[in-house]
Amino acid sequence: MDDLKNAFAQALILSYSYSGNTHRIARQLQALTGADWREIYPRQPYPVPFPELLEQVRREINTGFRPQLLPGAPCPRPYSILLVGSPNWCGTIAPPLAAWLCQNDFSGKTLLPFYSHCGGLAGDLRRDIQTLCPRAEVRPPLAVLQDGGSSLDKTLLQWLWQTIQI
Ligand SMILES: Cc1cc2nc3c(=O)[nH]c(=O)nc-3n(C[C@H](O)[C@H](O)[C@H](O)COP(=O)(O)O)c2cc1C
Repeated sequence: MDDLKNAFAQALILSYSYSGNTHRIARQLQALTGADWREIYPRQPYPVPFPELLEQVRREINTGFRPQLLPGAPCPRPYSILLVGSPNWCGTIAPPLAAWLCQNDFSGKTLLPFYSHCGGLAGDLRRDIQTLCPRAEVRPPLAVLQDGGSSLDKTLLQWLWQTIQI
């Protein structure tokens, strides 16, 4: 465990979550690594009724819209490793995470993406993040079904160990 904490001593965990699953994963990553954890929020909250939410999300993704974030979104500069989390929305990352990735420079940094999904359209979130952050090294993402259930810690530990051994 100390090896893991040493490996992530200069890491930031950053998560966007709509219904809480991605934040749960982020919280467990924080507990396992001891890394800093920050959340981001869109300035304008997303609608609650699902049909409206889906319509807005589809529109934002199709047009490349980047929502404004609430003040307090962290700067990645002090960190060399960033674990970035989002729900899978329509086969890609949610627009608030895309907005944060677009407004920062990740040159020379390592990005470890993780996402929650419901077993629907998988997409290629690594490619999408690499496109937004061409100067970063983007490692293979961790996909977690919903909130990861009772085996979440095991799943996370396996991924973290694999990731630091690359
Ligand atoms: C607008 C919207 C689009 C979604 N699109 C997908 C998808 O394409 N593929 C998938 O597997 N899950 C999809 N989901 C399910 C979410 O990824 C899943 O419920 C996830 O656990 C939510 O994470 P959160 O609680 O952190 O927001 C979608 C959910 C919503 C609300």
